[in-house]
Amino acid sequence: MDAPPGDGLLSPLAFMREDDSSDDRFYVVPRKVVHIDDGAIAALGALYAEVLPRGGRLLDLMSSWRSHLPPDFGARAVVGLGMNAEEMADNPQLTSHVVHDVNRHPRLPFADAEFDGAMCAVSIQYVIHPVRLLGEVRRVLRPGAPFVVSFSNRCFPSKAVAVWLDTTDEQHVTLVRSYFHAAGGFTDLTDENRSPRRGDPLYAVRARASSGTLDPRATSP
Ligand SMILES: C[S@@+](CC[C@H](N)C(=O)[O-])C[C@H]1O[C@@H](n2cnc3c(N)ncnc32)[C@H](O)[C@@H]1O
Repeated sequence: MDAPPGDGLLSPLAFMREDDSSDDRFYVVPRKVVHIDDGAIAALGALYAEVLPRGGRLLDLMSSWRSHLPPDFGARAVVGLGMNAEEMADNPQLTSHVVHDVNRHPRLPFADAEFDGAMCAVSIQYVIHPVRLLGEVRRVLRPGAPFVVSFSNRCFPSKAVAVWLDTTDEQHVTLVRSYFHAAGGFTDLTDENRSPRRGDPLYAVRARASSGTLDPRATSP
């Protein structure tokens, strides 16, 4: 991936990371842990229950050991995309998974409009080409399908982009909204503070794939 990070949204410096080595090095060791506490996981599951379609084919972008869907959710398929095969193989909610580095290859290995919904939990801070990636998520969603991006206040700092480390939780919401705007092709952009009264905060920014024509940038290699 030769293009400078940030997709022109901000200075490329904003998307530099302390550890800019290939992500497969950092994620080679499986981490079978959750990254938010039980209250935030419950809040995320409740949000998914409200927003994601039942019986559909879902994409869990930047997936790991758990997907945080409610236990009885009843998706037809949940496809995980992440960096560690062992973590995803041990995720009971995934029906299949693929190892794919979105920082090296923002193009997603899926066909147009093959998903009924998508989610990216507590991971958007690691993405160095967020506009291209969201354009790709738009491409693989059918029109009307939701995409939920959630985050809390923790991260692996060496792998988070500089702009994330330099900004507040509220500014993270604005930043993620700007990713959706810049990617284009989404409608009903909404942000919510779904934080439980105690413990880890939980924020979500979500939108639906619009029914208009895809931006050609979203389909280029
Ligand atoms: C903090 S964990 C979150 C995992 C999971 N979404 C959750 O809610 O527990 C970050 C995840 O992002 C994935 N990830 C990090 N960099 C990535 C990249 N360049 N391409 C694809 N996935 C990546 C890792 O595999 C890891 O599972």
